[in-house]
Amino acid sequence: MPPLLLLLFVSLNLVRSSGDVIDFVFNGFAGANLTVDDSAMVTPDGVLVLTNGTHLMKGHGVYPAPLHLRSPSGGVLSFSTTFVFAILSEYADLSAYGLAFFVSPSKSFADTLPSQFMGLFNTSDVGNATNHIFAVEIDTLLNVEFGDIDSNHIGIDTNGLTSIVAASAAYYDDGGGGGEVLRNLSLISGKSMQVWVDYDGTSTELNVTLAPLRVPKPKKPLLTHAVDLAPVITDTSYVGFAASLGSMSSRHCVLGWSFSLNGSAPPLDYSKLPKPPVAGGGHRNTVLDAVLPIGVVAFVLAVATGAFVFGWRRVKYAELREEWEDEFGPRRFSYKDLYRATGGFADRHLLGAGGFGRVYKGVLPASKLEVAVKRVSHDSRQGIKEFVAEITSIGRLQHRNLVRLLGYCRRRGELLLVYEYMPNGSLDKFLYDRERKAALDWGKRFRVVKDVALGLLYLHNNWEQVIVHRDVKASNVLLDGAMAGHLGDFGLARLHDHGANPRTTRVVGTIGYLAPELARTSKATPLTDVFAFGVFLLEITCGRRPIEVDARGECAMLVDWVLRRWSEGKLGDCVDSALQGEGEHDAGEASLALKLGLLCTQPSPGARPSMLQVVQYLDGSLPLPDPSATSLDFGTMASMQNDGFDSYAMSYPTTTSGASDASHGTVSDLSGGR
Ligand SMILES: *[C@@H]1O[C@H](CO)[C@@H](O)[C@H](O)[C@H]1NC(C)=O
Ligand SMILES: *[C@@H]1O[C@H](CO)[C@@H](O)[C@H](O)[C@H]1NC(C)=O
Ligand SMILES: *[C@@H]1O[C@H](CO)[C@@H](O)[C@H](O)[C@H]1NC(C)=O
Ligand SMILES: *[C@@H]1O[C@H](CO)[C@@H](O)[C@H](O)[C@H]1NC(C)=O
Ligand SMILES: *[C@@H]1O[C@H](CO)[C@@H](O)[C@H](O)[C@H]1NC(C)=O
Ligand SMILES: *[C@@H]1O[C@H](CO)[C@@H](O)[C@H](O)[C@H]1NC(C)=O
Ligand SMILES: *[C@@H]1O[C@H](CO)[C@@H](O)[C@H](O)[C@H]1NC(C)=O
Repeated sequence: MPPLLLLLFVSLNLVRSSGDVIDFVFNGFAGANLTVDDSAMVTPDGVLVLTNGTHLMKGHGVYPAPLHLRSPSGGVLSFSTTFVFAILSEYADLSAYGLAFFVSPSKSFADTLPSQFMGLFNTSDVGNATNHIFAVEIDTLLNVEFGDIDSNHIGIDTNGLTSIVAASAAYYDDGGGGGEVLRNLSLISGKSMQVWVDYDGTSTELNVTLAPLRVPKPKKPLLTHAVDLAPVITDTSYVGFAASLGSMSSRHCVLGWSFSLNGSAPPLDYSKLPKPPVAGGGHRNTVLDAVLPIGVVAFVLAVATGAFVFGWRRVKYAELREEWEDEFGPRRFSYKDLYRATGGFADRHLLGAGGFGRVYKGVLPASKLEVAVKRVSHDSRQGIKEFVAEITSIGRLQHRNLVRLLGYCRRRGELLLVYEYMPNGSLDKFLYDRERKAALDWGKRFRVVKDVALGLLYLHNNWEQVIVHRDVKASNVLLDGAMAGHLGDFGLARLHDHGANPRTTRVVGTIGYLAPELARTSKATPLTDVFAFGVFLLEITCGRRPIEVDARGECAMLVDWVLRRWSEGKLGDCVDSALQGEGEHDAGEASLALKLGLLCTQPSPGARPSMLQVVQYLDGSLPLPDPSATSLDFGTMASMQNDGFDSYAMSYPTTTSGASDASHGTVSDLSGGR
């Protein structure tokens, strides 16, 4: 074909459909016949804007005609598509949630939800095989619920949002002849990027490739995965894009798209692609100008949107309340108040995300009280009554070293816990941050240790029933304005204990802090708390995580490390290197902390001290027995430790490596393992 003709061919948004090939090209969507809904629209210069910046909206752009994706023999035909997208985010380093290319049996998405559901699913159907949705997600928020790897990744999804396989955004640069070099990309940079999705129906191989705009398609795809789409994709299917927003005003744009069934996607003509809208303002007026001439349509749209927003508001503030909760009345907060307090659970209010859920900072509208609101998802009704009874009774526990629970709220599939706000956040944020570490001198550390010991003693001894914390660790120790330690999150581990998934083990806690007997008995006791406290004591003194992964990928237990130093007579070397300077720590106290830590982490529960003894050792009212004089042989202790722990470390390799994940990984996340 002569070049001129080729140009003409490509620029005409040509849709060709002959006997065995169907393909189409959109070099921009101006005048294109595309079905758009909700917040999606095509700008006059041809950009498909899926989300226009309005919070909690979703939008879709769908090829209007259904395609027939199954071959006569019943398999799924090969298909290939490529598109150019740009994400314009409000903040340089934060955006939500993302966009996706999808294949779906329907082009109506009325039942779907925005936010993390991407406008493709809702709470009740996400993950269900009856959805018949295949998607390639471009995900810019780390969602714990769906096991996301990070906040900048591409994933392959079928029927839900837990990716079958995912990779951080990057591309293999094969310039320069030699081997490929993996180069990272930031999805929310606002730069245009191109994605290719190629599926081979015979080999069931699926490739997803990413590259900056105008970089030729890399030879090596970012994701290559064998996934049989036959059970997923129905014969009559629609193809298109979906995007959704939570409480951030990002705009998700598609600039060009081509698709081919049973062939390879026609190339896009970069010179014809529209420019993405300018980040920030200036855009809306042009949009209005385009909409005004068809005022009637806009009016109908506005009414529809109003109805939607009205309905959405009702759904938005819906709560779950049952009769048995009456007795806990005073501790109940309304969801509306919590929603307002946290600016609609805005990401800028996010304090952190842990194994149990996300925590937001809020200011209660009436009292102006600062609070921390934790959203915990729970999918079983089972155990929730006992749990609420327990946490609210724990709420009556008043101790200055326990983070106070002020109340709760329940919604479908979700529990919200309202705690007093701790201005300095969790201890681990100080312990593992080179700059903030300076604020944590030895005096403060030793005080936090005593605070935590007192809080734990109160839970074990000073209440009518013994309360086992089950998850003592640095990230559960919160610091108030004066850097005093408060133990948080008690009882939460118990909720997971009642979890509906029978395949998960009932042991709950955090890797590295689990007493070895938990592997056998699964029964948390005050002495398993003492063990975790001992690990915590070593952690805060040494400034090292309970499990560290060395360069060879092997896990090293902090307990073993301290033991080894101690047997070499170099216990003093264990103290955090940040405190090694002249006069920076009290050698007597540090040695007490290390030895007490070892005493508490003895493999045999009976050999560990009680919390009462721990408190007495710490305040000096009871002399610490010289551990070397105890009947315990530390040689066997080390080996027992290894036996006890290696099984965790081995069956849980991923969380022991990621620095921040390690502190959140719980054994309950292990499925089927034992
Ligand atoms: C797909 O293409 C191959 C050759 O390119 C052809 O033999 C086959 O009939 C096509 N299948 C369909 C269903 O169009
Ligand atoms: C985004 O789209 C929705 C629905 O069409 C509309 O209500 C809203 O005003 C739009 N927002 C902007 C900033 O254009
Ligand atoms: C858009 O495509 C649909 C489905 O193919 C078709 O029914 C409709 O007539 C087309 N509209 C225009 C304006 O071409
Ligand atoms: C979820 O979507 C399905 C359709 O996929 C619909 O039948 C169901 O009613 C929706 N559920 C909710 C809670 O919106
Ligand atoms: C999937 O959806 C079907 C029909 O909508 C329903 O009967 C089934 O219980 C759902 N399965 C799961 C695991 O949610
Ligand atoms: C690329 O991204 C990965 C994952 O986010 C990260 O581990 C790696 O350090 C990054 N590499 C470069 C060169 O920035
Ligand atoms: C996927 O990529 C590999 C490696 O480049 C290539 O050999 C294979 O043909 C590709 N498969 C598809 C379906 O494009």
